[in-house]
Amino acid sequence: MDNLTYKASDARYDGRMPYIRCGQSGVRLPAVSLGFWHNFGSVDDFNKAHATACCAFDNGITCFDLANNYGPEYGTAEENLGRMMDLSFRPYRDELFITTKAGYDMWPGPYGDWGSRKYLMSSLDQSLWRMRLDYVDLFYSHRYDPETPLEETMQALVDIVHQGKALYVGISNYPLETIDFCFGYLKEHDVPCLIYQGRYNMMDRRMENGILSACRDNGVGFTAFSPLAQGLLTDRYLKGIPEDSRMARNRFLKRDVMTPQLLDRLNRLNAIAATRNQSLSEMALSWLLKDGLVTSVLIGASSPVQLLTNIRAVRNTEFTADELKEIDSIIL
Ligand SMILES: NC(=O)c1ccc[n+]([C@@H]2O[C@H](COP(=O)([O-])OP(=O)(O)OC[C@H]3O[C@@H](n4cnc5c(N)ncnc54)[C@H](OP(=O)(O)O)[C@@H]3O)[C@@H](O)[C@H]2O)c1
Repeated sequence: MDNLTYKASDARYDGRMPYIRCGQSGVRLPAVSLGFWHNFGSVDDFNKAHATACCAFDNGITCFDLANNYGPEYGTAEENLGRMMDLSFRPYRDELFITTKAGYDMWPGPYGDWGSRKYLMSSLDQSLWRMRLDYVDLFYSHRYDPETPLEETMQALVDIVHQGKALYVGISNYPLETIDFCFGYLKEHDVPCLIYQGRYNMMDRRMENGILSACRDNGVGFTAFSPLAQGLLTDRYLKGIPEDSRMARNRFLKRDVMTPQLLDRLNRLNAIAATRNQSLSEMALSWLLKDGLVTSVLIGASSPVQLLTNIRAVRNTEFTADELKEIDSIIL
């Protein structure tokens, strides 16, 4: 691809990518969004990352999900998005829904972590500078801070919208017992929470503890991160650990999770996927999109090929009762 003359595909809105209403808001999100946690940092091949992002947009993925500390190095996924804006996406800014977050350790000292107004406000200013943007579409508080009053964190989100630096706000990784307060506070201050972002995939069902239903009942969208369990729910590891894989780096996805028992389960899931004419990754994403509780699955992809495989998931999100039972009997 010639990076300097990128022109988005005219077919990007041809109906292949469904756009799902986010809670009770005016915003619709693509059923599949692209996350920049891995593969987009300074340690990665920029041209490949750029090609993956362009491939995503060409295929109707209008939502890019970032955070201040995505890289590695921290901040560099946002910097690379900024480069991509200048190289390719600036003409399409209004077609993109770009999100970022603050909540985990970002810079040293008492003001670069957790949920204070001081941290969230300065972090977003830094993020906008790195991404070469005037505003983000959505800003998340990345995690609950048990030592900062929730009122302070929520009011910072309200004020960020009033400042025009984010159009919407959301929360991520907040425990169930805090979310009624958050949803209520934001609504009372006329900045309703647009999205709750949580880890949800076929093998990790913790969001079914009440968070998914609370989102539905409060008109809040839900986006599922690590929908492929960081690559486990794909064919990536069925024949060993490839050298260029996330597991080979042994940091966020440890080699020792791949036990013979897990491999056996993944092979059995892969066999079910095959009977559905899907790859395992497609089936894992279809499973998340099956009942309307998930607004968008936030996938990672280290190449355009992976991305193209994954977006085929939207073609078949129906499951028979027997398929669901069989999947559960393998996993649970
Ligand atoms: N809010 C939060 O706290 C939080 C936390 C984590 C993530 N997130 C968001 O969620 C996004 C996705 O997270 P994730 O990267 O863990 O998602 P994921 O979709 O579960 O895993 C992505 C990885 O799976 C592998 N993969 C993807 N498609 C494949 C295919 N078709 N065949 C084989 N392998 C495939 C790739 O691994 P290889 O790199 O090995 O090729 C890829 O990097 C992040 O980028 C971020 O935006 C948010």
